[in-house]
Parts: sequence; structure tokens; C-alpha cells
Amino acid sequence: MEESKKFYITTPIYYPSDNLHIGHTYSTVQADAISRYKRMRGYDTFFLTGTDEHGQKIEDKAKAAGVTPKEYVDKIVAGIKDLWKLMNISNDKFIRTTDEYHEKAVQYIFQKMYDKGDIYLGSYEGLYCKPCESFWTETQAVDGKCPDCGRPVIKASEQAYFFRLSKYADRLLEYYDSHPDFFAPSMRQAEMVNNFIKPGLQDLCISRSTFKWGIPVPINPDHVIYVWLDALTNYITALGYASEDDSLFKKFWPADVHLIGKDITRFHTIYWPAFLMSLDLPLPEKVYCHGWVLLDGGKMSKSKGNVVDPVKLADRYGVDPLRYYLLREVAFGADGIFSNENLINRINSDLANDLGNLVSRTVAMVDKYFGGTIPEQRESGEFDDDLKAVAAEAKINAEKYLDSLNFSESLASIWKFISRTNKYIDETAPWALAKDESNRARLAQVMYNLCESIRIISVFIAPFLPETSSKIRAQLGLGEATDWEECGVFGKEETFSVVKGEIIFPRLDLEKELEELASLNKAAENPLKAEIEGVAKIGIDDFAKVDLRAAEITGCVPVKKAKKLLELTLNDGTGEPRTVASGIALYYKPEDLIGKKVILVSNLKPATLCGVESKGMILAADSSDGVKVIFVDGVEPGTKIR
Ligand code: MSP
Repeated sequence: MEESKKFYITTPIYYPSDNLHIGHTYSTVQADAISRYKRMRGYDTFFLTGTDEHGQKIEDKAKAAGVTPKEYVDKIVAGIKDLWKLMNISNDKFIRTTDEYHEKAVQYIFQKMYDKGDIYLGSYEGLYCKPCESFWTETQAVDGKCPDCGRPVIKASEQAYFFRLSKYADRLLEYYDSHPDFFAPSMRQAEMVNNFIKPGLQDLCISRSTFKWGIPVPINPDHVIYVWLDALTNYITALGYASEDDSLFKKFWPADVHLIGKDITRFHTIYWPAFLMSLDLPLPEKVYCHGWVLLDGGKMSKSKGNVVDPVKLADRYGVDPLRYYLLREVAFGADGIFSNENLINRINSDLANDLGNLVSRTVAMVDKYFGGTIPEQRESGEFDDDLKAVAAEAKINAEKYLDSLNFSESLASIWKFISRTNKYIDETAPWALAKDESNRARLAQVMYNLCESIRIISVFIAPFLPETSSKIRAQLGLGEATDWEECGVFGKEETFSVVKGEIIFPRLDLEKELEELASLNKAAENPLKAEIEGVAKIGIDDFAKVDLRAAEITGCVPVKKAKKLLELTLNDGTGEPRTVASGIALYYKPEDLIGKKVILVSNLKPATLCGVESKGMILAADSSDGVKVIFVDGVEPGTKIR
């Protein structure tokens, strides 16, 4: 990575079509770790994430849910923002492609490319994958299946605007050759060149007229801008490109790293650089294409029903164990297999045993032998130099790997030092030193070295496990780790006064956890079943206490000052009218109800709602598209229902 004092990193912007799963979390957690590291190294850092909200898929889903596309995405985007908060993601900005400034800038970009002659109107015929919103050629769509998701493609044709991608093929190849660090891992370069550029780049379709949910083409409002031009440009519009205030753009562009999953490599290393060339803008320094988090060798997908919910795991085990697992378990650029068993084992071995134990043992010993504060009189001895040497080596390796975005090797280097520190306890045997008063100065040095090592570890892990770093430092009586260089100094603190805290990573019972997770997953597969099974059981006597009667609605008026309430007059068979206030005004008009028979809970205690004394309630279903009153036909008012 180029050494400059600014650092701009992006994650992909996520489709808010469903809730995100643990695979999506992987991209964002990596970007967060590297951003925190860069900040600790004094870089002026800008970390961008967001959501990619247009396209036919969203339009279709919103339609099926009976809401507008914006209403549909608003709800899911709120959940995505909550997830990032939960995962302790330190993004500097969250862009939504429905943000007005983005939409305006995308139209400006379209116009600029059009004026330059890089966009023309043509007609597109191809094989279209609806879920991926991608057109493919015959050679790409082997056996009529989408090469990205494996689902069938359909023949489609439409008039559309095209971007002259073919014009940029040579310049792209030149750029790759002169920028050997552009692709990470580097093998992706050959893949792109051989599979896409050498067979001949085709011009790119960048508009659609078959759906409406997109940014209108400025020169032809019958078309909306097709999703990749809209999506990729977020990386510059978020910085204020083509807006009144483009100071962030001037400061941070070009991006230092676009961090993406390998499935969207083509879009980021071919389309995006070509768009930027067309706009006469510099290209990003690096595109890091990470592998997938898989389940039993297969891809996680909502349609397969095999998604892993990060919220459930974080609730159960904490956020840092989940961050650690993702960053450690998946090797650089490769796919990794998620399994509950691996997760629990990692928590137990690396976090509870290696790290957690080291901290709790050390703090307990300082407390026991020195009443919490290490004396100043100390004496060096065997093993001290080796401990320091391993700390220095860990720093070199942790940095080397982090700078090349190899999170798992960086963590492995740090854990080498953690193991070395644990070994130091065995070698120096403080419990034996404590038996003899004449060893007091040596014991003090051993305790000091342990606390210094733990302080260094707290700096090392701060980008990966921010919450754990703070918890550990609190036990050493220190504030937050903010300066990365502090992991390079052995002997920084003069002494330590420790504060005993709770166990940071309690050990987990593997068998029990696997059972619990299996039942949680079952609940996720059939949430309705789990919900019904989770409702407390009642006896027939309890049910018999509810008096249900058929009743006819004879009158109905809106309740003033209460938008949701209707005042109903019911014939309950007694000959005396009964008043009931019901919260159904948003779903029914009085004329829809008068004359209808409903089910009345007749023995509900009276209550006054917005000035109406309501004697009972009527039964209604809370269905996904609103409240539906239960009507009963052919039953006389007053008839008992059970
Ligand atoms: N909206 C586009 C990206 C536009 S970027 C200008 C998109 N969105 S996505 O929500 O489908 O995927 C976002 C990212 O999540 C992609 O980088 C994708 O590779 C990544 N992942 C989705 N499933 C994943 C795993 N199972 N494992 C790892 N990453 C995964 O693509």
C-alpha cells in the first residue's frame, strides 16, 4: 500500500433486499479493522460503507410487500445500520444510493460521459439474470445459467444506453501492467484479463426502460440508469464529487482500497476503472477481492435458507469473538467455511485460554503478590530478552500482514506473542519465586514484564477487537489504545496498578452450545413455528374465561382526535346497544362495516379510549398487509363462540 498520510477505504454498498448475513459482515469487519489500524498509525482515514438501493429486484420485492420501494428499503437499511453499530463498525460515512446528492451526481456523470461521446443509444439483446440484474453472452452463460449465481438466464431485448467499454480495453491492460499492486490477490488480474478482456470487451448496457426504480437518465426520462453505473459511482459521490462542496473528494480520492467480495471483481476492476478514465479521474490504488464465507462448501443464500445471522451470534457470544473468528478463520483472498464448532473452538482456545487466561492470571498474581501495584525495585533475569524479541518480531509481522490486508496472518503473528507470554509464566514460575522473600525484586520484574506484554497485546488487538482491548487496558489501569507505535516499546509504563475485572471470555461448553445453536437455527428456518411454540400454554379453564359472542355492527363513526379509532355500535343480542372502540380506522371505512357480523369479546373490562367508553373488543387479524376484521356470516347476534 502506498505510504501517504490519508487513507480512503470502501466496502461494497449492500443490497437492502434482505437482512444481511455473516458473509456480508466479513467485508465490513475487515474494512473496520484496517481503518482502525490506519487511524492508530496517524492516517487521516475515511471509511465508507452504504447501501445500493435501486433496481428491479427491489422494485419487485416492494410490490410483493405492498409498499413503495423507498418504504421497503428504508426498513432494511435501518436494520443494516443497526448491525454495523452492533458490530462496532467505525465507518465515517454511510451512503444510500437514494440520497439526493448521489442521484444528482450520477446524472451529472451520465451527462458528462454522454457529452464526451462515451454513451450512445442502442438496443440490447442478451441473456439476462434477473436476481443478479446482469446480462451475459452465450459463452458466459454456460448451459443457460448465470455464471455468478447459477440460476437460469432468460433471453431479453430492450432499447438502452450503452457505455463504450470496448474503447478502454487497451488502457485497462496498460494500467494493470504498470500497477502491479492494483489487484489483490494478484491472481485475479489473470482471471479478468483472460476471461473478459482478451475475448473482447463488449460495450456496457447502462440503462433500463423495463422498470422505474432507479435514477432517471437525464436526457431521456423513460430510462433509468442501470445499477452498476449508479452503484460504483458511490465511491466518489460520497466524497462530494460533482457537488458544491467537493473538499473530501479533493482530499481522499483516489481510494487506497476498494474492499470487495470476489464475485464483484469484474465490476470493480474493469467497469469502474473505465468509468473513471472516461471522467478523466485517477484510478483506485488497490482492489482487494476477498473470498467467501461458505457453509458446508456451499454459498450462503436466503433462497437456500442457510444464512447465518450475525446478530444472533453476537448476542450470544459477544461482538469481538465474532470479529475475531471472521478475521482469523478466513485466509487471505481464499474462501473459508463457517461452522459453529469452529467458532466455539476458536473462542475457547484462542480467546478464553490464550488471551483471557493470560490477563486474569497476571492480574490475579499482581494482586496477590503485591496488593495490586508492582514495586519499582526490580531485577531482570533469564527469558526477559527473548520475550522482548518476540514482541518486536510480532510488531514487524503484524504490520507487514495488515499492510497487505492479510488479517488472519496478522492475527497469527500477534497470537505467537500471546503464546510466548504464556510460556514466560511457565518458565519464570512466579508462584515458586513468591515463596522466598529474597526473590521479590525478580518477581516484581516478572510481573512487570507480563503487564507490559499485555499492554502491548492490547495495542496489537485494538484494530481487530476494540472492545476487548479496552477491557484489558482497564484491568491494567490504562485508557484506550490510540497510538499503534506503543506496541513497539517494551518498558513504556513505569509501573502498573491493576484493577481486577470480570472474566473477559468465559469458557464455553462445546456440546451444549452446539445444541443451543442448532435449536436457534431451527427457529430461524421456521420462525412462525418457533413463535407459536414459544407462547405460554393455557388450560381450557383459562380459555373458558373469555366470553366470545357474535355481534352485528349497527353503527360506526370515526373518533375525533384519534386517527386510528372507530366507534362501533353493536347489537350483541341483548336488545341494548353496546359501544366498542376499535383501532381499525386506517383499514376500514364505516360503510364497509355497517351490517357486518363480528366476534365480540364481551367480558373485557370497560376502558375509556380517547373519550369513548369501550365495552369489549372485536377480533381482528394482524396480517402482513394490515389489520383484517374477522367477519362471521349466518350467526345470530348473541350466539356464544368457543
Ligand atoms: N450491491 C452490490 C455491490 C455494489 S458495490 C458498488 C452487491 N451487494 S451484495 O449485498 O450482494 O454484496 C455485497 C458484498 O457482500 C459483496 O462484496 C459480496 O461479495 C459480499 N458477500 C456476499 N455474501 C458473502 C459471503 N458468503 N461471504 C463473503 N462475502 C460475501 O454485490
